[in-house]
Amino acid sequence: MPKDLVSIKDISKEETEALIDTALSFKAVLRRDIKKVPALRGKTVVNLFFEPSTRTKTSFELAEKRLSLDVINFAVSSSSVVKGESLLDTVRTIESYGIDYLVIRHPSSGVPHFIAKQTHASVVNAGDGINEHPTQALLDAVTMKERKGGVKGLEVAIVGDILHSRVARSNVDCLMKLGASVRLVGPPTLIPLNPPAGVKVYYDMDDGIRGADVVMMLRIQLERQGKSFFPSTKEFFKYWGLSAERLVLADKDALVMHPGPMNRGIEIASDVADCPQSVILEQVTNGIAVRMAVIYMLQ
Ligand code: CP
Repeated sequence: MPKDLVSIKDISKEETEALIDTALSFKAVLRRDIKKVPALRGKTVVNLFFEPSTRTKTSFELAEKRLSLDVINFAVSSSSVVKGESLLDTVRTIESYGIDYLVIRHPSSGVPHFIAKQTHASVVNAGDGINEHPTQALLDAVTMKERKGGVKGLEVAIVGDILHSRVARSNVDCLMKLGASVRLVGPPTLIPLNPPAGVKVYYDMDDGIRGADVVMMLRIQLERQGKSFFPSTKEFFKYWGLSAERLVLADKDALVMHPGPMNRGIEIASDVADCPQSVILEQVTNGIAVRMAVIYMLQ
């Protein structure tokens, strides 16, 4: 395994499969009465979140505590960053405490990659701009493996704001590496002009999800859209939202996934988000075991 997990491309197919299997083993630990293992006792991790997060931040912290790490949650808003200290000086200051791992989320693409080159600590990308979110792709793969028995051969439709989605970017690479067939579904304005080789692009939602084994809805990232990419959110739901009527076009046992946070009524109907086919909260649960596996296995 590499020192860092900055991009899902950092790990081979075999390493990806090993991480998934290790996460599934950690799930067994998490079902025990005592959920903690002494694996990384004496090691220290700093969580450095420059952008809001609910799921990723809390699950990394829980994962770290379950591995017996000493955990520092760096609060950017009450740090010397607000006095103008640079990112690099901040990281060098933190590193001088002798830390072992740095988990970083940043609104700018490429920041974890930059930091990984500057520090001896192992860097884990917890989401950078519109670039990548590798641990999200891994937890999505774990969820698919648990529910479908494997990822190979699945037809996975990723729907919505592909252009601004780091989740889509990491998922496309991870799913294709594991042998799934990937469809990107959305309006032409929200799908990259040069989609990755091997994926199928659909500009019609009904065609895009027909017969799919997994329908992965993405959040419309209004905060990253500097201009209007569609006429209105009402219009978006009409053409690209996942309603119960539309879901019947997918395979009858199709999984409904969403990385969260959801915009109910914009990209996904509220009743679909909570329907029996939805595994959205299982994705959240799997985030702990996956992040344990990633931190445990980095060299
Ligand atoms: N899926 C995800 O990254 O959610 P958060 O922004 O809440 O961490």
